[in-house]
Amino acid sequence: MGWKTLDDMDLAGKRVLVRVDINVPVENGTVTDDTRMRRVAPTIADILTAGGTPILLAHFGRPKGQVVPEVSLRPLVPALEAVFGAPVLFCADCRGPAAEAAIGAAGADTVVLLENTRFYPGEEKNDATLAGEVAALGDIYCNDAFSAAHRAHASTEALAHLLPACAGRLMQAELSALEAALGAPKRPVVAVVGGAKVSTKLDLLGNLVSKVDTLVIGGGMANTFLAAKGINVGKSLCEHDMADTAREILTKAQAATCAILLPVDIVVAREFKAGAEHETVPADACPADAMILDAGPKTVARIADVFEDARTLIWNGPMGAFEIAPFDAATNAAAQQAAKQTKAGTLISVAGGGDTVAALNQAGTAEDFTYISTAGGAFLEWMEGKTLPGVAALEAS
Ligand code: 3PG
Repeated sequence: MGWKTLDDMDLAGKRVLVRVDINVPVENGTVTDDTRMRRVAPTIADILTAGGTPILLAHFGRPKGQVVPEVSLRPLVPALEAVFGAPVLFCADCRGPAAEAAIGAAGADTVVLLENTRFYPGEEKNDATLAGEVAALGDIYCNDAFSAAHRAHASTEALAHLLPACAGRLMQAELSALEAALGAPKRPVVAVVGGAKVSTKLDLLGNLVSKVDTLVIGGGMANTFLAAKGINVGKSLCEHDMADTAREILTKAQAATCAILLPVDIVVAREFKAGAEHETVPADACPADAMILDAGPKTVARIADVFEDARTLIWNGPMGAFEIAPFDAATNAAAQQAAKQTKAGTLISVAGGGDTVAALNQAGTAEDFTYISTAGGAFLEWMEGKTLPGVAALEAS
């Protein structure tokens, strides 16, 4: 790994600008899922223990360079204090005299939280002036926001070049887990890619077929592949205009000796609703007036066989309409199989992406995976083989 960590830094008495991702869901002013806060807590604790002052930089929502009070970071203070077990001093600016004064006033064991970096037009432009103004507030830069590392913004990229820079504990953990899954994995490697559309995951599928031994395709995008093979998918979600692309991916997979596992049986219904009347039929027997909502038990058995042989699993996207029972069955069964093998120590399992984490939580298996990424877009871009600007900047600094 070509980047420094907190262990390489002398933190005592230092002002440490920590880029975190606390872009958490909030309903009626209450944080409904504090996972991202909890995942950066070790970094904050380590800086405090070493005698440094953590100064948090973060975005919240997409205010696009405007001050939008609804996405101020101020309301997150109580939740952060509860998670960190330390006082959090908020400053309504992220540069200039007010921020300087707040940092100067922070007592020992206090965390400083600066206002939403996206209130400033320079943030999303990766503006050197804004980065310079923020850099003036600190001695060290620590990036702990893997989930924002796909953005080349002032607080994730430019800033890393202006101060001694390192990765935080969460960034370290994310990069190590992803490296273990796709960089230098234990083979055989299986990837599960599900979700609605092929068109949103083209680069991902293209990269994976050259990296993994088996690619399991599920969810709506499997319908597009079935249709591309000339199979009638009835009224199913399907991108018929992506048929050529799907065929190209199949050809690329064959050339790379990557086995593709598509559903061999399907669960079909006439309505998209929980508990809808349904039946299981072979993959090539979808009735013209029905839609495919899940993979069937024969497919699940094949997935289990592939998992049994695998040593590494990387998972993005559900296998079916997991949000409406009983069409969550294939996702749940595959997740439980992966969890069982992970617990037995025979499989390294890494998962990420919004819907994926929700699906694994619903299956009651998220805790048993080797690693669950906090990232959505950044996880996908990493799996696509792209360079993440926030990570590249840490490597360069
Ligand atoms: C996320 O929620 O995935 C990250 O915070 C990135 O947010 P963004 O897509 O608005 O850049």
